[in-house]
Amino acid sequence: MGVIDLQVRIGNAVLPNPVGVASGTFGYGGEYEQLIDLARLGALYTKAITLEPRGGNDIPRIVETPAGLLNSIGLANVGVERFLIEKAPEGARFGCPVVANIAGATEVEYCRVLERLESSDVPWGYEINVSCPNVKQGGLAFGTDPQQIERLTRELRARTRRPLVVKLTPNVTDITVIARAAEQGGADALSCINTCIGMVIDTQRKRPVFSMKTGGLSGPAIRPIGVAMAYKVCRAVSIPVIGMGGIMTADDAVQYLLAGATAVQIGTGNFVDPRIPVAVIEGIEQYCLREGLTSVAQVRTLMAD
Ligand SMILES: Cc1cc2nc3c(=O)[nH]c(=O)nc-3n(C[C@H](O)[C@H](O)[C@H](O)COP(=O)(O)O)c2cc1C
Repeated sequence: MGVIDLQVRIGNAVLPNPVGVASGTFGYGGEYEQLIDLARLGALYTKAITLEPRGGNDIPRIVETPAGLLNSIGLANVGVERFLIEKAPEGARFGCPVVANIAGATEVEYCRVLERLESSDVPWGYEINVSCPNVKQGGLAFGTDPQQIERLTRELRARTRRPLVVKLTPNVTDITVIARAAEQGGADALSCINTCIGMVIDTQRKRPVFSMKTGGLSGPAIRPIGVAMAYKVCRAVSIPVIGMGGIMTADDAVQYLLAGATAVQIGTGNFVDPRIPVAVIEGIEQYCLREGLTSVAQVRTLMAD
């Protein structure tokens, strides 16, 4: 161990290893401080941060499905001002890059959140959530329109030199069109994928389980979708892709790397066992050793098209 170069480059900065924890599944980090050594993480993506605090959708907000989880959280979060006062100082002591996940109902809102976050040294970079299926305004409305994506990315790009990652939704006809629009707007990397729209119906009450009717499906059930989307996006753009969707083991993560992803994130897996991200880092390192590689970046080059 220790002989493999695990660093990955995103924009003008470097992550210590390719394994991050996904937005919305790891709070702001402090919640997990007693459970794992956060300094081992390649990156910690915060819960979405909006301009004003949001209470989120009515309960229930989570329902289990075969090999998956359907959620309708609705971007519940403390808002950017409380994030800066309470959560950012905590993030400074984690010892891993903290990526602020940003959401908004309008372009102006996204920009104002990013501008406020620029006043703190804590965010290593930003992940722009234009792909939340569980809110009435913003979210998917941005993520499915290439022109809006390009314009929003350009506006945000003009406001920061830190790494700017745009998070894509799988809920579109052709994800590569959206991916190219974000690249065109100046994104440093693309995260893919956010959750897939799904619905569970309560047969006794004869209505959908969620008040918003549909929710976002995550977990192993969506892994083949995530891998296929990452594979396509990697071939459509020349910026790094951060793959996610259903990663529970190192082998799952390696699928994304072989598909062409530069890094990965673990989401729903954290609810099953918060030690999964560290096990995945170690497993990727072992895979590299077995394959005779010297760096994790080489995994991407192993698979013939
Ligand atoms: C409960 C829950 C909350 C989430 N909240 C956010 C969020 O606030 N912002 C975001 O960009 N993605 C959010 N996501 C999506 C995840 O970050 C990830 O893209 C998705 O769950 C797929 O990865 P997974 O299968 O490993 O969970 C959320 C997912 C879950 C399960």
